[in-house]
Amino acid sequence: IPVDDFDLVIFGATGDLAHRKILPGLFRRFVAGQIPETSQIIGAARTQQDDAQFRDAVAAAIVEHAGVKKNDPRLVQFLKLLGYVAIDATGQGGWKELAGRMRADAIHAFYFSVAPSLFGDLAERLASHGMAHGDSRIVVEKPFGRDLASARALNQTLAQHFDEDQVYRIDHYLGKETVQNLMAVRFANILFEPLWNAQYVDHVQITVAETVGVVGRGSYYDKSGAIRDMVQNHMMQLLCLIAMEPPYHFDPDAVRDEKLKVIRALEPVEPADIVRGQYEGDDGAGSYLDDVGDPDSRTESYIAMKVRISNWRWQGTPFYLRTGKRLRARTSEIAITFKEPPHSIFDDTGAPKANELVIRLQPNEGMNLKVMIKEPGPGGMRLVQVPLDMSFADALGAEGQDMPDAYERLIMDVIRGNQTLFMRGDEVEAAWAWTDPIIDSWEDSKRRPEPYDAGSSGPEEALRLMHRDNRRWREIRA
Ligand code: BG6
Repeated sequence: IPVDDFDLVIFGATGDLAHRKILPGLFRRFVAGQIPETSQIIGAARTQQDDAQFRDAVAAAIVEHAGVKKNDPRLVQFLKLLGYVAIDATGQGGWKELAGRMRADAIHAFYFSVAPSLFGDLAERLASHGMAHGDSRIVVEKPFGRDLASARALNQTLAQHFDEDQVYRIDHYLGKETVQNLMAVRFANILFEPLWNAQYVDHVQITVAETVGVVGRGSYYDKSGAIRDMVQNHMMQLLCLIAMEPPYHFDPDAVRDEKLKVIRALEPVEPADIVRGQYEGDDGAGSYLDDVGDPDSRTESYIAMKVRISNWRWQGTPFYLRTGKRLRARTSEIAITFKEPPHSIFDDTGAPKANELVIRLQPNEGMNLKVMIKEPGPGGMRLVQVPLDMSFADALGAEGQDMPDAYERLIMDVIRGNQTLFMRGDEVEAAWAWTDPIIDSWEDSKRRPEPYDAGSSGPEEALRLMHRDNRRWREIRA
């Protein structure tokens, strides 16, 4: 279904995110017939260039990132939607022209794909040029602050000119099909929810493993580390979707209220329950310290932690989180390990007995439920664990082959005015309030992360985090 006619301004339109994700995503939505041909997509950045030069640069980016030919008629059509205004974010240049290009009868959206230090300047200029009216909305990228104080300050700055229901804070994990699917699996089936609590769940593992390192973005990453880059946002969102109570409706505030309650119920994490790592180099590539160009950096490229949620549903069921760079494989998954049956009527003790539900977020998106059955043969009742394995691509046929990128979905939601998959200000602040002491105590300790080999599963110490609880991490493999 097409969205309503809109004018979308992308601040930072010459940047990497705009070229890699935002503009190719818009192109794909255009091809899908979702974007009205009268809509305008206006690039705004410091670079002085005209509409034609901007269109050329965007065409090249789309050819590279959306896999189309330069003379594809759909691309030629799409480029007609594009315009460009050179803008001075901290001065006055370009703002009048931008205001002049906005049409009175279209939805106005402003995408802040720029450093957070510019958010205030942009918001203020939009307001002073009459572009912050009730129906306009702004989209802001992560990182949303680097601690509670800075996130609060950002929220306050934006709130001077925009109401909360006009602010769309992106966490692109929420735009992933399989992440949304977590809610469908939990709340559209009766099978899981009765067991989804501490009485039946032994523990939960959330893994986001990456093979890439930080080369090329070391200066950002080294100030963040895995905890700010992944845990405070993406991992936190996954944790919330797995742990939250059923919202009364799939509606922005109902969903976000329930996520907020989970964040508020998180217990502080003891230093002994956290392992940090830093990758070493190998023949192919440099170490973390090489990649960030600082031999003394104490920033972690890997983190594993045991998290507890203090509420009725989860008291006693730990959530183990781990994420890192330069690991063995790129894989994101959530594994729910259930408790063993209370009593076995069979003598066989050999095989694992606990059911496990693994939800694969990427790649090879799907679900795998491990169940016990009888091993075939006349030799008595021997048990074996087998997978009920489903890949979404197979199960859904052609539709499952062509999953939209997270950004496509999210940008269309902005135009539709649906905030369900965006973070509310209080949610972001609560996440920082939980993360801050973890970061502070680490910084105070002056310790170094544990080294781990590039291409491995992370530092040895992370294994001990599990072993001391008589549990083990799932293997990281593609
Ligand atoms: C980004 C982080 O937000 O998410 C990156 O800054 C990380 O460090 C990326 O690589 C992971 O996203 P995805 O979609 O590739 O899993």
